[in-house]
Amino acid sequence: MNKHKQLHLILLGAPGAGKGTQAVRLSAKLGLAHIASGDLFRQEQASGSELGKVAKSYMEKGLLVPDEITVKMVLGRMRNPDCEGGCILDGFPRTLEQARSLDEAMAKEDKKISQVLYIKVSNEELLRRLSQRWICRNCQAPYNVVEMPPKAHGRCDHCGGELYQRPDDTEETARKRLEVYFNQTMPLIEYYRKAGKLVEVDGEQSIDAVEKDLVKVIESGAGA
Ligand code: AP5
Ligand code: MG
Repeated sequence: MNKHKQLHLILLGAPGAGKGTQAVRLSAKLGLAHIASGDLFRQEQASGSELGKVAKSYMEKGLLVPDEITVKMVLGRMRNPDCEGGCILDGFPRTLEQARSLDEAMAKEDKKISQVLYIKVSNEELLRRLSQRWICRNCQAPYNVVEMPPKAHGRCDHCGGELYQRPDDTEETARKRLEVYFNQTMPLIEYYRKAGKLVEVDGEQSIDAVEKDLVKVIESGAGA
């Protein structure tokens, strides 16, 4: 594919905003690779790798994994052939340092971020969603076990994998993650607004309505 036709999207938002939920849908709709830094770290943990062990020590406390490790992992993943047409970044970048490293690495290949889709949700709703979330051990698809449960109890609709509650979704760790988000990730909103790439979407609507708004924004090319 012509590199000028590439679409590189960032889904920005707090823990529980719906980044993963929407990324799965957009990835299927647009045929773009879905790259979720948190999913990659959880896969590394499941495989028992050194990287997984290091990541776990930060994730279980609700802290960010150091930039150097995270940037290397995500940029490496972006070099896979399935990213030829672009990709959807979910949960990355999360610090100004990560955003600058991403811009620099992409500029070297004459690429750029197309749009940054900021999914905005209130604090109260975020904590409610995190406490009700279970995810698939295999494909990491998220479910709300109270409001949008899987068809078969404890099993993933997509792949039949076992569902479990993420250890960092306990109330104490979820609160820490929100605090970390406000201190370390919120500055990215200004960073991308200044770059003319930020588009805000109301994340407190139904999942279908949020998807519709995101698709509208992407199709209109607003912020691109
Ligand atoms: P990560 O896995 O990225 O977690 P997060 O950012 O905290 O985001 P979440 O996955 O919790 O939320 P989401 O926005 O994807 O919401 P979801 O769609 O699941 O990161 C985990 C950890 O890894 C970090 O704490 C850090 O340690 C490390 N890490 C990851 N990336 C890093 C980075 N770049 N740098 C350093 N460290 C990094 O939805 C949540 C729930 O709500 C679900 O149950 C869903 O069904 C439900 N829901 C979704 N949309 C709606 C809706 N519209 N209405 C009602 N319910 C909804
Ligand atoms: Mg997620």
